[in-house]
Amino acid sequence: MLEIEKFDLKLNTDIIGRNFIYAEEIDSTNTYLLDNKKLPDGTVVFAEKQTKGKGRKERIWHSAKDQNLTFSILLSNKKYLGKTVNLINLASSLAVAQSIENLFQLNTNLKWPNDVLIKDKKVSGILLEASSLGSKIERLVIGIGINVNQNLFQGSFNIPPTSIKIETNENIERERLLADVLNIFEELLGKLSTTPEVILRDWKSRCRMIGERIEVSENGNTKYGIFDDIDENGFLLLKSRDNKIEKIHFGDVSVQ
Ligand code: BTN
Repeated sequence: MLEIEKFDLKLNTDIIGRNFIYAEEIDSTNTYLLDNKKLPDGTVVFAEKQTKGKGRKERIWHSAKDQNLTFSILLSNKKYLGKTVNLINLASSLAVAQSIENLFQLNTNLKWPNDVLIKDKKVSGILLEASSLGSKIERLVIGIGINVNQNLFQGSFNIPPTSIKIETNENIERERLLADVLNIFEELLGKLSTTPEVILRDWKSRCRMIGERIEVSENGNTKYGIFDDIDENGFLLLKSRDNKIEKIHFGDVSVQ
């Protein structure tokens, strides 16, 4: 069981996680935040077990009870809900990567838009969901799953999974990691309005796919080309054979 007091002592944020909801079991922390419309900006919902943990592209997020981190962050402050949503996506995966590097001296790499990998295996996945009024995003939910102390993974995965325990051979204190991810995430959110180029630079320095020939699939549609760059809004720039650049907003990327 997560020790809330231990976590609280390590949390240095002003907003993120100051309203903290702990659940033994819940369908999905993302669904909870999307359904409960009166919660304050920065609310974090944490669950020891999700019965309907959601992954990207309608996939299921499997995570063993009490061993990992599965939580969601609510952002409802208008200043974040404009054109920066894609950058928030990058900032969240960067926060997870930097925490893992700082606390456990592991190298991570990032796969667009927001997978965190260690030695080409997935240690964390992130699912952003929004509730909108007309064309305006009102609330953004950032759902983060981190494989922490799980030893075995069963099922079929599009990228093979790993956990921090598998990579370090040590039992990991989840409270410290959770607080650290939230501390760094809040710091990066601040940088989004002051120095977004720093977030892009730090994200890109961990992405080994830039310059590679890739395929991007979304809704059964596959596109091929060179992963040219990430633009200032966090979109992937795909260069085709005739050197045309296409902006990709969503999709699953793999190296060809
Ligand atoms: C992916 O890589 O496909 C995204 C996985 C996101 C999983 C997290 S766990 C906490 C939050 N609640 C959910 O139902 N999903 C996200």
